Amino acid sequence: MPPTVVVFQPEGRRTRVGHREDLLDAALRCGVGLEDLCAGRGTCGKCKVIVRQGRELLRESPESAARLTDEDRSRAIRLACQTRPSGEGTIVLEIPPEAQRSIQRLQTSGWMPPVRLAPSVRLMPLGRGASTGILRRRGFRIGPRAARDIASRAIARRQGAACVVWDRTVLAAQDRQEPVCGMAFDIGSTKLAGFLLDLRSGETKATVSAPNPQISHGEDIMARLAFVRGSPEGLAILREELLETMNDLLRKACGQARVSPDRVYHVTAVGNTAMHHIFLGLPAGHLATAPYRPATRREIVRRAGPFGLKAHPEARIHAPPVVAGFVGSDLVAGVLATRMHRSGDLQAFVDIGTNTEICVGTRHRLVACSSPSGPAFEGAHIRFGMRAADGAIERVAVDPETLEVDYRIVGRGKPRGLCGSALLDLIADLFLAHVLDAAGRFQPRPGSTRIRLLGKERAFLVVPASEAAGRQDLVLTQTDVGQIQLAKAAVRSGIELLLATLDRTSAEIRRVFLAGAFGTYVAPESARTIGLFPEIPLDRVRFVGNTAGSGARLALLSRAERTEMRSLARTVEHLPLAEDPRFPRAFASALPIPHRNAIRPADTTPRAERDGAPRR
Ligand code: FES
Repeated sequence: MPPTVVVFQPEGRRTRVGHREDLLDAALRCGVGLEDLCAGRGTCGKCKVIVRQGRELLRESPESAARLTDEDRSRAIRLACQTRPSGEGTIVLEIPPEAQRSIQRLQTSGWMPPVRLAPSVRLMPLGRGASTGILRRRGFRIGPRAARDIASRAIARRQGAACVVWDRTVLAAQDRQEPVCGMAFDIGSTKLAGFLLDLRSGETKATVSAPNPQISHGEDIMARLAFVRGSPEGLAILREELLETMNDLLRKACGQARVSPDRVYHVTAVGNTAMHHIFLGLPAGHLATAPYRPATRREIVRRAGPFGLKAHPEARIHAPPVVAGFVGSDLVAGVLATRMHRSGDLQAFVDIGTNTEICVGTRHRLVACSSPSGPAFEGAHIRFGMRAADGAIERVAVDPETLEVDYRIVGRGKPRGLCGSALLDLIADLFLAHVLDAAGRFQPRPGSTRIRLLGKERAFLVVPASEAAGRQDLVLTQTDVGQIQLAKAAVRSGIELLLATLDRTSAEIRRVFLAGAFGTYVAPESARTIGLFPEIPLDRVRFVGNTAGSGARLALLSRAERTEMRSLARTVEHLPLAEDPRFPRAFASALPIPHRNAIRPADTTPRAERDGAPRR
């Protein structure tokens, strides 16, 4: 019998499979990133594929049937390692989001929508006789440095000389063939990402990243704000460290693209409000105390030279507007990149970090909040928690019968600890296996040596000492479970309160955008099982990566996008969770796994009507 052809969509990768091979073999041969935690033994249930065509050509093992839910069946899902072709023809498969294997550990790029290229910085040809006087009469502002450039006969007489213009201001004169670039920065509390863009083609010429140097003054925003308040030089020190790293990244990106930093004429930087204020040198200490009001919410534009960024000295440094003390320009950039502000469908944007920024709504009304989810998702305050570095367990599957554990680690070697995505997998699988109850308490399992007492608390053995790098048992303790419950309750209660504010229900959500590094690596099935987001079909979940960086790039590439960002920041309503009387109840309801119930607080009056907040 001739072999069958398997096609993986949307990339269209195809391969022939013999009848002794399974669909996991086909995926591996095509280089398709498919979860295979148990290496094809059929125990982890992770290697799911959606059969788009050729269901009749496939034969499943009984293990596959036992591991799939009714929802899986209704989505035409099969386990790749337990399914083989049994006939001739073409089988078309798609990898569902929950089975997509993440490869890249340093998340810098994100979902980028198409954009019409019309940047704020543009080249304007200079005729032979062009002079500063003519340009001024045409309504252009010209600084002394640009005036010198233009007056220089060498430039004015050369064929192909051109002015670099920002809005109606001439920044410089240069040869028309020379590059005109922009740099977009996403200033995260943990990491900085930078993108060097060619503003004439729209192409991203280099992508660079570095840890945020301020980490030495505190892991989270509140610690850094405390540093600002605690020392008269605190703000200047944090700003200097930030600018130094940004200048390093600028140099590095220009080096990679073989472009002089002098050809960078526009720098856009987005970040949470604390990072935004520190970057601009605005008073930031008061952001740590109620009413957490930003010094400004407006778009700020400065000149690079006096500002301290080593682009062209006349380049414009552009900080898009923020929404509130804890809802920054990174959220505005993220919403802009996902286009949820243009859709009539109810959508939710969740950027998971130490402070999780959430926005829910439609083009008619968007409401946002920041929820203090803490660092547990990054492995902090977890006994064997760690960041997603080499040796971190990033994926886990627990057999519900035997409680045997399959896992995958980042890089090579022996496991050293558990990163956030693995913690969510573990808690979800232990809950489904009835090892954890809805309150998150460990339940005894007679005959199993996996559940044990560590001092006074119960713990689950993930990796025995013999297999672990540190030669000690890697366990998940009762306290660890509690930490993750607190973090997920912070996120979930934020989502529920935004829905209640909009007088909508989770069933109406058409799309959840999961942004940020953690949101990229988390298995959506596990996140839904523990109740991080509401019970919605998984095909409504989309990973969008670093959308803050994408929004910053959009602002570089198009004046219209910059304008849209300003309008978005004005119209997104802010829901201050800390002051909301519904928050304690919403949080308590979100603590159990997955969630106590759908909350519907007594006060469902839209916030805009309650306090006169602007309405779109
Ligand atoms: S790889 Fe298929 S079930 Fe684990």
